[in-house]
Amino acid sequence: MRGEIRFLRRGQVVRLTAPSPTLTLLDHLRLTERSTGTKEGCAEGDCGACTVVLRRLRGDQITYEPVNACILFAAQADGAEVITVEDLAKDGELHPVQKAMVDLHGSQCGFCTPGFVMALFALYHQPRAMSVDRAQVNDWIAGNLCRCTGYRPIVDAGLASCALPASDWFTAYEPEARQALAELKDTDDIFIGTRDRFLAVPATVLSLAKLYFANPDATIIAGATDVGLWVTKQLRQFQKVIFLNRVRGLDEIEDRYDAVSFGATVTHAQAIPYLTAIDRDLGELMRRFAGNQVRMAGTIGGNVANGSPIGDLPPALIALGATLALQRGERPRTMPIENFFLDYGKQDRQPGEFVRMVRIPKFTAGEQFRCYKISKRFDSDISAVMGAFKLRIDGQRIAGARVAFGGMAAIPKRARATEKALIESRLDQPKSWDDAVAALTEDFSPIDDMRASAAYRLTAARALLRKALTEIGGTSSRRTRVVGFREVAGVGAA
Ligand SMILES: Cc1cc2nc3c(=O)[nH]c(=O)nc-3n(C[C@H](O)[C@H](O)[C@H](O)COP(=O)(O)OP(=O)(O)OC[C@H]3O[C@@H](n4cnc5c(N)ncnc54)[C@H](O)[C@@H]3O)c2cc1C
Ligand code: FES
Ligand code: FES
Repeated sequence: MRGEIRFLRRGQVVRLTAPSPTLTLLDHLRLTERSTGTKEGCAEGDCGACTVVLRRLRGDQITYEPVNACILFAAQADGAEVITVEDLAKDGELHPVQKAMVDLHGSQCGFCTPGFVMALFALYHQPRAMSVDRAQVNDWIAGNLCRCTGYRPIVDAGLASCALPASDWFTAYEPEARQALAELKDTDDIFIGTRDRFLAVPATVLSLAKLYFANPDATIIAGATDVGLWVTKQLRQFQKVIFLNRVRGLDEIEDRYDAVSFGATVTHAQAIPYLTAIDRDLGELMRRFAGNQVRMAGTIGGNVANGSPIGDLPPALIALGATLALQRGERPRTMPIENFFLDYGKQDRQPGEFVRMVRIPKFTAGEQFRCYKISKRFDSDISAVMGAFKLRIDGQRIAGARVAFGGMAAIPKRARATEKALIESRLDQPKSWDDAVAALTEDFSPIDDMRASAAYRLTAARALLRKALTEIGGTSSRRTRVVGFREVAGVGAA
């Protein structure tokens, strides 16, 4: 058992022996360390001003992962090296990314600049950074906002700095960093506090299961891209916190001939290549899922467990026929994922039970899939409506259908009346789709809110259903593009 959080900072091991369970990395950097180069803009993961890079040893690979320090808890940095904007220049020389930002006029007021520099520094260190194009740089920095310079010069700086092989002092000292990171790795559970108030970071599924079973009132934290906001915006405090970031085995992806299984703590960034391989619409959905920093931290398990009616993955997973594996103590159980979502804020999860895995079956003959996200802003925005459709086609006849929507009800929900009406209709006879389109009103009575009106949501859902049928029928080609940044990034790719 270990009684401290440890991470590397400028070659030294930082040890936090009594941190508040909800100490953010940003507060540690700015308030304790007084490294104020990392800025706080929104404190909710939206603007990227607080971007820092976690250098990690994943397997035998060194990775550079940009994350939002404002909603990342210090405990999540355990075992990593924390790199901030102050660390980039050396011996009076700017880092190539900083130099490019200066030379190409990528900064005006400068508030966003440390965040952009750190995001681009992480890009500079991706395995295939030299081949990035403008669209890929855009995707990479979609989680960073600038309100005065404009993005063109910043993207130019990204392109210019990535055009050369990475050869900064971080690359030169990688062997030393590798050794220091390896020395930080251990298999101990971390427990700080008392029985009534603690911060725990279990190392195994067994330790997690036992601890959560004994403390069902504890708050589980995976990537903290939801929970972080409960702390920074709602000022919530927790007595007992269990972090999942060190649980061995919970971060594994198993790619078999018939299905892909994602452990609960697989991050969105890690999952993207596998989701894209299942279907390119899934890849496109993930390209538009938050921004890069949120995808680096947020997990598949967190996106399902939070039960949000506007979460992006749940409708897609329902339509794909995914199953969910849960565990309470030593007792595992599985269920079709749609059964997990009971009502607004209510999931079929017992006290002390956690999400362990999501399994997506691969397509069998005749199956086709489409999914679409509609949000007010293209990048880094939550859905107003999200529709997912899996059809089994026999010639032109629809022989099977799974349809699900987000943003249309209090939960991510399967559209059973619509599915029923689709069976036996024909892709080459658009008139035969009308009953299914009309059945959407049997399945859903959406609400008005700031993201969309009820009428807009219903109209959009009808249009998305027709779009899916049109595309699958082949009378319209789909226009989504294959996710770009994964082609350059090797972060966490298993
Ligand atoms: C700026 C921003 C943009 C975002 N954009 C999107 C978006 O486009 N689409 C979208 O769907 N979401 C979006 N989100 C929401 C969030 O990123 C996702 O829901 C994410 O997947 C949550 O995962 P996490 O690991 O960070 O969860 P956490 O914040 O760690 O946890 C979320 C909830 O799930 C519980 N939990 C986590 N893991 C488990 C587990 N294994 N077992 C049981 N309970 C668990 C926690 O206790 C908590 O209640 C955005 C968030 C931010 C801050
Ligand atoms: S301060 Fe805006 S993302 Fe962290
Ligand atoms: S330079 Fe002012 S916000 Fe970007």
